[in-house]
Amino acid sequence: MKPIQVGLLGIGTVGGGTFTVLNRNQEEITRRAGRPIQITMVADKNLDLARTVVGDAATITDDAFAVVRDPNVDIVVELIGGYGIAKELVLEAIRNGKHVVTANKALLAVHGNEIFAAAREKGVTVAFEAAVAGGIPIIKAVREGLSANRIQWIAGIINGTTNFILSEMRDKGLSFNEVLAEAQRLGYAEADPTFDVEGVDAAHKITLLSALAFGTPVQFNQAHIEGITSLKAEDIRYAEQLGYRIKLLGITRRTEAGVELRVHPTLVPEKRLIANVEGAMNAVLVQADAVGATLYYGKGAGAEPTASAVIADLVDVTRLHTADPEHRVPHLAFQPDQLAELPILPIGEVETAYYLRLSVEDKPGVLADVTRILADHSISIDAMLQREPAEGADQADIIILTHRTFEKHMSAALEKITALSVVRGDVTRLRLEALG
Ligand code: HSE
Repeated sequence: MKPIQVGLLGIGTVGGGTFTVLNRNQEEITRRAGRPIQITMVADKNLDLARTVVGDAATITDDAFAVVRDPNVDIVVELIGGYGIAKELVLEAIRNGKHVVTANKALLAVHGNEIFAAAREKGVTVAFEAAVAGGIPIIKAVREGLSANRIQWIAGIINGTTNFILSEMRDKGLSFNEVLAEAQRLGYAEADPTFDVEGVDAAHKITLLSALAFGTPVQFNQAHIEGITSLKAEDIRYAEQLGYRIKLLGITRRTEAGVELRVHPTLVPEKRLIANVEGAMNAVLVQADAVGATLYYGKGAGAEPTASAVIADLVDVTRLHTADPEHRVPHLAFQPDQLAELPILPIGEVETAYYLRLSVEDKPGVLADVTRILADHSISIDAMLQREPAEGADQADIIILTHRTFEKHMSAALEKITALSVVRGDVTRLRLEALG
């Protein structure tokens, strides 16, 4: 049967991996897809690099628009990234009746509603398994595998760079800046790691999972995002003494009032499997009513793991190439006319438990003052730790774990606690999720 023809935009790490894996596993992939999948055009600004990877196997150009407009290309794989030229190319591919496979979480989290609407109009598919958690088939699992369930929440380690940094901080007792510098030297972190360390990349990914889980449009601009740049090594150490690990989690939860959509460093009980996901690995925990908890673990980045997801999408699209568009799996799991307008809750309305670290004068009555303020805001204490002051010092660290409360109550309590004359500096507040 005539091969399905693929135009590849960007022959960097993932593009190269896609080319390699497609070639290596061509025979089995063809048996699965029902016809050969062939990359026939490659666009990249770096023609020499493209030539090195592709050889004579495909037409190479530095004009990506020539690929998305080529009448022989059936599927466009977009691996450029970002919201700029990638958006123009994806929309132009759709206008030209091409299916699109993309790893671009930023593009879909921010412009997904517009892109999916354009694709529906043209009767083409936009597939994005590689956009979340690299090689882990989490999009497929949430969109299709769990479709019998009412999904309650998802919590994921969906950024490998930050998980690597947090693992190193814990293992070696180093500061964020020390580990970041080392990670950059070793090539584990980008030269500009802002999107990773500030939590933006994880927020793009949890935005997509949230929409798939709850049948809403993508709403990245409503996400609450905190990264790990101000996380202190001592908080990782204290958390450990209390039986917790700190992970950068993307969390989305359905409540009666709406949907929580947030990324922040989170204490997780060390006995949870997800708390033991180390280094650059990713893991996503999904709680759903029928199946209960399911956990998905694997490599969230890298050439061949991400290519694995890209090619799975290519196989899906190839199988459905000639299917009636109305009978394809909907982009966001739910039928487009069935999307819900659930509000994303502001952070004040989020309910979670807390870790607090206060530096206080070491004298009678201090603890009573702090706990009185918490009680006045209906915040119940779960556990406490007081670090002995160094010899001669008049200052001690108090660490408090609380039961669940609304963030607005905690913020009001912390305003009063910070104003106490015995409290030195700001109070460190981290969120804690039992994930039970
Ligand atoms: N920069 C991402 C990470 C990989 O560190 O996990 C691509 O999504």
